[in-house]
Amino acid sequence: MLKLEINQRSWDVPDFQADEMLVWVLRDTLGLTGTRFGCGVGVCGSCNVLINGVPTRSCQTPTADAVGKKIITLEGLAKGTGENIKLHPVQAAFLENPLQCCWCMSGHIMNAVALLEQNPNPNAPQIDSAMNENYCRCGGYNTIRKNVTRAAEIAGGRS
Ligand code: FES
Ligand code: FES
Repeated sequence: MLKLEINQRSWDVPDFQADEMLVWVLRDTLGLTGTRFGCGVGVCGSCNVLINGVPTRSCQTPTADAVGKKIITLEGLAKGTGENIKLHPVQAAFLENPLQCCWCMSGHIMNAVALLEQNPNPNAPQIDSAMNENYCRCGGYNTIRKNVTRAAEIAGGRS
Protein backbone atom coordinates (compact mmCIF):
# COMPACT_ATOMS: atom_id res chain seq x y z
CA MET A 1 0.00 0.00 0.00
CA LEU A 2 1.22 3.43 -0.93
CA LYS A 3 -0.18 6.86 -0.09
CA LEU A 4 -0.15 9.72 -2.57
CA GLU A 5 -1.32 13.32 -2.15
CA ILE A 6 -3.36 14.11 -5.21
CA ASN A 7 -5.59 17.14 -5.67
CA GLN A 8 -5.24 18.10 -2.02
CA ARG A 9 -6.39 14.80 -0.58
CA SER A 10 -4.74 11.57 0.41
CA TRP A 11 -5.23 8.52 -1.82
CA ASP A 12 -4.42 4.90 -0.98
CA VAL A 13 -2.79 2.99 -3.80
CA PRO A 14 -3.35 -0.74 -3.32
CA ASP A 15 -1.42 -3.47 -5.14
CA PHE A 16 1.38 -1.12 -5.93
CA GLN A 17 4.17 -2.37 -8.19
CA ALA A 18 7.57 -0.83 -7.62
CA ASP A 19 8.25 0.09 -11.24
CA GLU A 20 4.79 1.34 -12.12
CA MET A 21 4.73 4.78 -13.71
CA LEU A 22 2.49 7.43 -12.21
CA VAL A 23 0.29 7.78 -15.31
CA TRP A 24 -1.00 4.21 -14.86
CA VAL A 25 -1.68 4.60 -11.16
CA LEU A 26 -3.62 7.79 -11.88
CA ARG A 27 -5.60 6.40 -14.79
CA ASP A 28 -6.05 2.70 -14.07
CA THR A 29 -5.86 2.41 -10.30
CA LEU A 30 -7.44 5.68 -9.20
CA GLY A 31 -9.65 6.44 -12.21
CA LEU A 32 -8.22 9.91 -12.79
CA THR A 33 -8.43 9.63 -16.55
CA GLY A 34 -8.09 13.36 -17.18
CA THR A 35 -4.38 12.62 -17.44
CA ARG A 36 -3.80 11.33 -20.96
CA PHE A 37 -1.35 8.80 -22.30
CA GLY A 38 0.21 9.59 -25.66
CA CYS A 39 3.72 8.66 -26.74
CA GLY A 40 4.78 6.92 -23.55
CA VAL A 41 8.38 7.98 -24.01
CA GLY A 42 8.43 11.45 -22.49
CA VAL A 43 8.08 13.44 -25.70
CA CYS A 44 4.50 14.60 -26.25
CA GLY A 45 3.55 16.00 -22.82
CA SER A 46 -0.05 14.79 -22.96
CA CYS A 47 0.53 12.98 -19.65
CA ASN A 48 1.69 16.09 -17.79
CA VAL A 49 0.60 16.60 -14.21
CA LEU A 50 1.89 19.12 -11.70
CA ILE A 51 4.25 17.75 -9.08
CA ASN A 52 5.06 20.39 -6.48
CA GLY A 53 3.85 22.93 -9.05
CA VAL A 54 6.10 21.77 -11.87
CA PRO A 55 4.70 20.25 -15.09
CA THR A 56 5.98 16.67 -15.09
CA ARG A 57 5.72 13.74 -17.50
CA SER A 58 3.73 11.18 -15.53
CA CYS A 59 4.65 8.47 -18.05
CA GLN A 60 8.28 8.90 -17.02
CA THR A 61 7.70 9.34 -13.28
CA PRO A 62 8.01 6.21 -11.13
CA THR A 63 5.10 6.36 -8.72
CA ALA A 64 7.40 5.88 -5.75
CA ASP A 65 9.14 9.15 -6.67
CA ALA A 66 5.86 11.04 -6.20
CA VAL A 67 5.33 9.94 -2.60
CA GLY A 68 5.30 12.92 -0.24
CA LYS A 69 4.86 15.42 -3.08
CA LYS A 70 1.85 17.47 -4.07
CA ILE A 71 0.33 16.09 -7.26
CA ILE A 72 -2.29 18.06 -9.18
CA THR A 73 -4.17 16.53 -12.10
CA LEU A 74 -6.80 17.98 -14.42
CA GLU A 75 -9.48 16.83 -11.97
CA GLY A 76 -7.99 19.02 -9.25
CA LEU A 77 -8.28 22.36 -11.04
CA ALA A 78 -11.97 23.23 -10.77
CA LYS A 79 -13.48 24.25 -7.45
CA GLY A 80 -16.88 23.07 -6.19
CA THR A 81 -19.20 20.55 -7.80
CA GLY A 82 -22.41 20.35 -9.80
CA GLU A 83 -24.12 23.66 -10.47
CA ASN A 84 -21.64 25.39 -8.16
CA ILE A 85 -18.57 24.27 -10.06
CA LYS A 86 -16.09 27.00 -10.89
CA LEU A 87 -13.65 26.08 -13.59
CA HIS A 88 -10.04 27.14 -13.39
CA PRO A 89 -9.48 30.11 -15.76
CA VAL A 90 -7.35 27.92 -18.02
CA GLN A 91 -10.14 25.34 -18.26
CA ALA A 92 -12.66 28.10 -18.96
CA ALA A 93 -10.50 29.48 -21.77
CA PHE A 94 -10.06 26.08 -23.43
CA LEU A 95 -13.81 25.47 -23.14
CA GLU A 96 -14.52 28.80 -24.86
CA ASN A 97 -12.19 27.92 -27.70
CA PRO A 98 -11.68 24.14 -27.91
CA LEU A 99 -8.96 22.29 -29.78
CA GLN A 100 -9.66 19.64 -32.40
CA CYS A 101 -9.40 16.09 -31.01
CA CYS A 102 -8.33 17.41 -27.58
CA TRP A 103 -6.08 14.45 -26.78
CA CYS A 104 -3.23 16.84 -25.96
CA MET A 105 -5.40 19.30 -24.08
CA SER A 106 -4.92 18.05 -20.52
CA GLY A 107 -1.15 18.39 -20.80
CA HIS A 108 -1.40 21.86 -22.31
CA ILE A 109 -3.78 22.94 -19.58
CA MET A 110 -1.44 21.73 -16.84
CA ASN A 111 1.47 23.60 -18.43
CA ALA A 112 -0.61 26.76 -18.69
CA VAL A 113 -1.73 26.52 -15.06
CA ALA A 114 1.90 26.33 -13.95
CA LEU A 115 2.86 29.23 -16.21
CA LEU A 116 0.14 31.54 -14.89
CA GLU A 117 1.12 30.69 -11.32
CA GLN A 118 4.57 32.03 -12.08
CA ASN A 119 3.62 34.78 -14.53
CA PRO A 120 0.01 36.04 -14.49
CA ASN A 121 0.44 38.07 -17.69
CA PRO A 122 2.74 36.19 -20.06
CA ASN A 123 3.48 37.57 -23.51
CA ALA A 124 3.48 35.40 -26.64
CA PRO A 125 7.17 34.38 -26.49
CA GLN A 126 6.79 33.49 -22.82
CA ILE A 127 3.73 31.39 -23.59
CA ASP A 128 5.51 29.63 -26.45
CA SER A 129 8.49 28.95 -24.24
CA ALA A 130 6.30 27.41 -21.52
CA MET A 131 4.24 25.34 -23.94
CA ASN A 132 6.74 24.29 -26.57
CA GLU A 133 7.63 20.94 -25.04
CA ASN A 134 4.06 19.74 -25.50
CA TYR A 135 2.91 18.47 -28.87
CA CYS A 136 -0.42 18.89 -30.60
CA ARG A 137 -0.78 16.48 -33.49
CA CYS A 138 -3.73 18.51 -34.78
CA GLY A 139 -1.58 21.64 -35.08
CA GLY A 140 -3.57 23.74 -32.64
CA TYR A 141 -0.65 25.87 -31.50
CA ASN A 142 -2.21 29.22 -32.38
CA THR A 143 -5.36 28.28 -30.50
CA ILE A 144 -3.32 27.12 -27.54
CA ARG A 145 -1.42 30.44 -27.38
CA LYS A 146 -4.69 32.36 -27.71
CA ASN A 147 -6.26 30.30 -24.93
CA VAL A 148 -3.42 30.92 -22.51
CA THR A 149 -3.71 34.65 -23.17
CA ARG A 150 -7.45 34.42 -22.63
CA ALA A 151 -6.96 32.44 -19.41
CA ALA A 152 -4.77 35.25 -18.08
CA GLU A 153 -7.56 37.72 -18.90
CA ILE A 154 -10.15 35.59 -17.11
CA ALA A 155 -7.89 35.11 -14.08
CA GLY A 156 -7.29 38.85 -13.94
CA GLY A 157 -11.00 39.63 -14.13
CA ARG A 158 -10.67 41.10 -17.62
CA SER A 159 -13.49 39.23 -19.33
S1 FES B 1 2.67 10.16 -22.84
FE1 FES B 1 4.08 11.02 -21.48
S2 FES B 1 5.22 12.41 -22.68
FE2 FES B 1 3.92 11.44 -24.12
S1 FES C 1 -6.05 18.83 -30.56
FE1 FES C 1 -5.58 16.87 -31.36
S2 FES C 1 -3.57 16.48 -30.58
FE2 FES C 1 -3.96 18.52 -29.99
